[in-house]
Amino acid sequence: MDVLEKFKSTQREIWRDFAPLEVFTTYTAFPLVKHARIRAEHRVLDVACGTGVVAVTAARLGARVTGLDLTPELLERARENARIAAVEIEWHEGDVENLPFSAESFDVVVSQFGHIFAPRPQIAVAEMLRVLKPGGTLAFSTWPPELFMGGMFQLVARFLPAPPPGVSPPWQWGDPNAIRERLGAAVKDLVFDRDRLLSPAMSPQHHREQAERTIPPVMKIIQSADPSTLAVFRRDYEELAARYLNENAVRQDFLMTRATKL
Ligand SMILES: C[S@@+](CC[C@H](N)C(=O)[O-])C[C@H]1O[C@@H](n2cnc3c(N)ncnc32)[C@H](O)[C@@H]1O
Repeated sequence: MDVLEKFKSTQREIWRDFAPLEVFTTYTAFPLVKHARIRAEHRVLDVACGTGVVAVTAARLGARVTGLDLTPELLERARENARIAAVEIEWHEGDVENLPFSAESFDVVVSQFGHIFAPRPQIAVAEMLRVLKPGGTLAFSTWPPELFMGGMFQLVARFLPAPPPGVSPPWQWGDPNAIRERLGAAVKDLVFDRDRLLSPAMSPQHHREQAERTIPPVMKIIQSADPSTLAVFRRDYEELAARYLNENAVRQDFLMTRATKL
């Protein structure tokens, strides 16, 4: 298996336990669907859909939706979510770097904190644009590197094995300049917006404990770090959370991008 395939197989293992966090991404799904201006007549692809929160939200507006994700365990939950919401969605196990769809199949391609984990941004962008119709909308939510979640991913990266060369870190997708460069001349009408997710916590320590139980990359550190490394990780996490904790919630502001394919 080549290094990037191995990287993706590790990603698949890491994200397997993500389903409980859908309680948070359910909140952010509606702002993204609104930002993407999804309507009933649209054919929509939700890339790296996880448990399908964006896909289900779009389908409830009447759109014809397809969801794709690398991790089969999350797609199982996505199927269950569609069943509960009584909507029809087509689900695919797959990789954003190699989408199993014909060119120009969708009116809207969305990704909520998803395609950012593909190792090669230019390949992910090329694939998302390939399957989009000319004049179609690409829209995604990402974590700015200078804010809480971007900072959390940078902290986590310091305590996990380095990814293979050529793998781009997810927080770069939170920088409008990087986005502008990555989408380049293939799009027009690039628009950015920001919104806020509040994550309840009584103290920085509560937030850290919750992360250790629920955020897959943090769970991986807890399983593998020795006690002194773990103590440093915990101290640094709590310092980061303390900077964003206000009135019993940690502010997790995110960036939304929308562009039209030329
Ligand atoms: C933070 S979760 C977000 C899930 C979902 N979009 C949501 O908002 O709840 C990241 C997702 O990216 C998926 N993922 C990571 N690398 C991927 C790839 N190369 N292709 C497709 N999905 C990928 C993971 O399996 C996981 O479901």
